[in-house]
Amino acid sequence: MKHNRVRPAGAVSIQAVCADGPRLTLQDASSPPHRLHMSPSETPALFTAKVEPGGQQFDAWANQSLLLSAEQGGLNWPSSCRNGTCRTCISQLDRGAVRYEIEWPGLSAEEKAEGYVLPCVAYPCSDLTLRLV
Ligand code: FES
Repeated sequence: MKHNRVRPAGAVSIQAVCADGPRLTLQDASSPPHRLHMSPSETPALFTAKVEPGGQQFDAWANQSLLLSAEQGGLNWPSSCRNGTCRTCISQLDRGAVRYEIEWPGLSAEEKAEGYVLPCVAYPCSDLTLRLV
């Protein structure tokens, strides 16, 4: 698979993304969400996302959803509502951390604790591995 690098508009640094507030990891999935404060003059942080099974990879920009980054990277990720309610895009985080900008994405606290994420509303805070479910 081709590994595209597409720089999105509206830049932000990872320090601004993940140092200012809690992020959701497999260890602290019950953490409350926080709002992202972006400065347009900062360069966005870029992470590598890997998809299992298959090992496909795509560039995951800190300032855009994992779903959008996956699509820009050439993946045909299942999606519908694109706002965290339908769960069509649900996957499991095997490695790494994400954050949400909405109060309560369509996941239970138990699902979050088990590493389930909704890529349409999840933003990366690190390199990560997603598992299709
Ligand atoms: S596309 Fe509906 S929850 Fe992600």
